[in-house]
Amino acid sequence: MAISGTGNKFSGAVCLLVLFLTISAMSTVSLASLKVGYYKHSCPSAEAIVRKQVNKALARNPGLGAGIIRMHFHDCFVRGCDASVLLDSTPGRRSEKEHPANNPSLRGFEVIDAAKAKLESACPRKVSCADILAFAARDSAYKLGGINYAVPSGRLDGRVSIEDEVTQNLPPPFFNTAQLIQNFARKGLSTDEMVTLSGAHSIGITHCSSFSNRIYNFNSTHPVDPSMDPHFARELRRRCPAPTSNAPTDPTVPLDFVSPNRLDNKYYSLLNSKRGLLTSDQTLATSPSTASMVTNNAKNGALWANKYAKAMIKMGSIEVLTGNQGEIRGNCRIVN
Ligand code: HEM
Ligand SMILES: *[C@@H]1O[C@H](CO)[C@@H](O)[C@H](O)[C@H]1NC(C)=O
Repeated sequence: MAISGTGNKFSGAVCLLVLFLTISAMSTVSLASLKVGYYKHSCPSAEAIVRKQVNKALARNPGLGAGIIRMHFHDCFVRGCDASVLLDSTPGRRSEKEHPANNPSLRGFEVIDAAKAKLESACPRKVSCADILAFAARDSAYKLGGINYAVPSGRLDGRVSIEDEVTQNLPPPFFNTAQLIQNFARKGLSTDEMVTLSGAHSIGITHCSSFSNRIYNFNSTHPVDPSMDPHFARELRRRCPAPTSNAPTDPTVPLDFVSPNRLDNKYYSLLNSKRGLLTSDQTLATSPSTASMVTNNAKNGALWANKYAKAMIKMGSIEVLTGNQGEIRGNCRIVN
């Protein structure tokens, strides 16, 4: 593992990180079933093929990298990292991608499809869609933030995807810190990992509807959420219609106004200047249980990047299917 773009002086820390990851991989049941270099013999070019497709897509539209990182999160939190988020609905069953948390905002499906098509010609039925997504999320972090890490692989694809299961498992944008901590704990992720992973909101966009309650008629005593900078709120009101205006469109704004296509720790400085978009972002800076984590991440970008890599590997191991628990799809949208 190496954190590129951070210079040689961090190589010592990186070595320690490799050691730590090796130890944690041996002590965690779900991680133990996954393995770095899983496709070394069955499809040696697997990871290179995925990276090439991701680089090609992101060169045209870096926003797709944000979409892919988010897609991996949405996959792992619902039925584990089993590519259930990629399955299309079937007659009589609406799949996860139909849920309002995913439709219409989730993006990047075509990048995964393109990688899968290349892999099916190079090594048919060898590389799972769940692994493609995990690799692609890593490749997006490398392209957009210079953050590189080795992805343990060997996940299998599930055969079930149910729209309603999204509601019970994914945190909505209006959650407070206590609710976020509980939601991530149910997936085996710590408070620090939750704060670290929220740093992914340093790239990409949000629809106005995900936060407009904070800038229009917040409550009966405060027209605007007092945890938001009033100048920033005014700028957002300029770009977002009031929810009551029956506006036909739901515009998008960048989650990080400073560097929207750079995966970095600017997100945390923005929180400390009351410029978080979602309630679930800003609450991390205002809550006493997470405020110091936000400040530490704001101060030390290299440390945050290391923690991000580790936390993504852990997230990528949630309830994975191995052995005879799943299959390797021929098409990521359809079960075999
Ligand atoms: C902590 C709880 C979280 C909540 C409540 C949350 C919620 C949201 C919401 C509401 C959006 C905007 C969707 C839209 O309106 O278009 C969003 C975008 C995004 N989220 Fe999260 N999220 C959380 C954690 C995460 C995590 C753990 C990751 C990845 C590690 C992540 C990655 C992203 C990315 C990259 C975007 C931008 C997507 C794009 O531009 O297409 N989020 N999130
Ligand atoms: C409105 O929000 C503020 C800030 O969160 C809070 O202190 C106040 O109690 C709320 N007022 C009402 C009436 O809910």
